[in-house]
This record gives sequence, C-alpha cells and structure tokens, in this order.
Amino acid sequence: MIEFRDVSQQYEAEKPIIRNLNLIVSQGEFVVLIGPSGCGKTTLLKMMNGLIKPDSGEIRIKGKELKEWDPITLKRNIGYVIQQVGLFPHLSIEKNIAYALDIQKVSETVKKERARELIQLVGLEENYLAKYPNELSGGQKQRVGIARALAADPEIILMDEPLGAVDQINRGVLQDEIIRIYQTLNKTIVFVTHDIEEAIKLGTKIVVMNQGEIMEMGSRDTIVFHSKSHFADDFIGNKGFLSYLNIVKIEQVICPFDGINGNISEKDMTLWVTAAEPLIVGIRMCLENGVNHIGVRDVAGQVVGAFDLGCLSRLKF
Ligand SMILES: Nc1ncnc2c1ncn2[C@@H]1O[C@H](COP(=O)(O)OP(=O)(O)OP(=O)(O)O)[C@@H](O)[C@H]1O
Ligand SMILES: [Mg+2]
Repeated sequence: MIEFRDVSQQYEAEKPIIRNLNLIVSQGEFVVLIGPSGCGKTTLLKMMNGLIKPDSGEIRIKGKELKEWDPITLKRNIGYVIQQVGLFPHLSIEKNIAYALDIQKVSETVKKERARELIQLVGLEENYLAKYPNELSGGQKQRVGIARALAADPEIILMDEPLGAVDQINRGVLQDEIIRIYQTLNKTIVFVTHDIEEAIKLGTKIVVMNQGEIMEMGSRDTIVFHSKSHFADDFIGNKGFLSYLNIVKIEQVICPFDGINGNISEKDMTLWVTAAEPLIVGIRMCLENGVNHIGVRDVAGQVVGAFDLGCLSRLKF
C-alpha cells in the first residue's frame, strides 16, 4: 500500500531528518509510529501524502511512485488528520467534515448526508453539524478531525497524534472508536503517537523511530519482548510491558487444567475470572490471593480452562 525505499530528507543542509528509511505498510495494517519529539514522525507522515518530497529514494503508494500520482486523486485516496486538528474556524462542523468532497463534483445533498453519517460514526450528536469549531471541546474537535479525514472514503488514513488533546478517559473511548472504525471500514492506517500504551493497544505493527531512523518494528509481542534495539528497549521498557498486560486478554493464554503442574481439576478452582479481562486482572487476582492459578469462564459463564502464573512464563509471546 505504502512503500519507502531508501528515503532520505532534510529541511536544511547537513541536517538529515529522515535517513535511508525503508518501510512497507501493507493493506489493512494499523501501523503506529512512535519515538521522541523531533525524530521525524510528522515529516514521515507528510511524505506519505506528498506534502513533503524526499531528497532521495522512492515512495510508492499502491504500487505507483508518488510523483506519478495526480495530487487530487492522491488526496482522495489518503485521509489526513493533522497534529493540531486544524479545523477551519469560519466553517460549520458540517462544512468542515464535507470539505474533502468539495474538490469532487458531489451534490450538496450528498455532502449533507455524508456529514450526518460521519458525525454519528465518530460518536457525536447530529446537532453538532450546525456548530462552529470554537463551540467544541478539544476532544470533540479531534472527533471532527477524524470524521473529516474519512469524508472522501479514502483507503489510507494518516493520523498525526489525533488524540493528543484528550484526557485519559476520553482517550480510551476514542481509541476504541478508532479500532471500531478500522475494523468495520477495513482501512489502512498510519498513526503517530507519543503514548506507549496507545501504540501497544492500537498497532498491528509498531515502528519505533529515533533521529530519522527506524530502530525497531514489529507486532506488540516483538516490540515488548523481542526487541533487538537497545534504544527501543529503553524507550518501550516496563511501561510497554505494563501496557501489554493491560491490553492482552486472558483468553489468549488459557491453559487446559491438565496442562498445569500438579494435575488440578475444575473442582479445585475457588476463584474465577472472565476470559475477556486483561492479563493484569488475572495476575493481580493470583497475587492478592496467594494462588498460582484461577479458573476462567467465558462471558456466557462456560468454563474454558485455567489462568496459571507458571503457564504464563512458558507461553511464547
Ligand atoms: N519546515 C521545517 N523546516 C526546518 N526544520 C523542520 C521543519 N519541520 C520540521 N523540522 C525539523 O525536523 C525534525 C523532525 O520534525 P517532525 O515534525 O517530523 O518531528 P516529530 O517526530 O513529528 O516530533 P513531535 O513528536 O514533536 O511532533 C525536527 O528537528 C524539526 O525541528
Ligand atoms: Mg509531530
């Protein structure tokens, strides 16, 4: 879908921002870029939609070199949520959302309909369509920014810290909504964040950057447990591990009762947990009660196996 081959870029002479970077974003991936401030995340995102040109190397979108794309067609294929939301203050929310459709020949009725559909998709009431950006909270604006990026139904969506201005609780809600949008609309997403937990929660592939280079990339398992880069190890560290325990569900590590040392059975279980809870709930329950294992039931109450501290370490992450 998006391919970078040996891409380098600098704004000023002798100050490379992106260094010989290679990256493939495949169709349907949710790629999260994470790294310290100034490492080149926004620059990389802007290169993906042609806002910044590389000095050398090749960028391909859907197999075709970026410079061969007609800019308007490219814009229709790539939605962009910019770092500071950037709604047009003089336009209503409805006009802001439908803005990307202005460059296409779309009737006013279709634009209105699309704005209505999208405002619902990002979890805001329809009456927000008539409001102006200064009447919205930071989090509401960020929802509108996401709706706007989806307006032309692009296959690729680039999001630059789209939840930066949202408090922790609303952040979780919006993250769940982004996951729902990603899963239901079948998009390819490249998402920038500073927040390690957000990266571990959202990314099907996590890319750790530093000083214009990719230090490590892979699934959350790779990033948390098998990183070969010292930088990525330090950067993700225990915070990444805790996030992992908070996000991965017990259902992914269930053991059969006879798979546990000591051959226990269902009848020995005094404590039970639901399979949909995160690992950290199971670990905490074991530690608080001084036991090594607890029973696991699914949401319907059916027994599905055990959660065992010993088995955890034997699992291949
Ligand atoms: N227009 C510009 N002219 C010159 N230097 C720039 C320009 N835009 C960005 N830079 C520099 O390029 C580097 C990378 O910037 P970029 O915005 O890509 O970082 P970032 O990883 O997105 O950081 P943040 O996490 O703070 O958003 C920084 O050192 C920045 O100062
Ligand atoms: Mg940035």
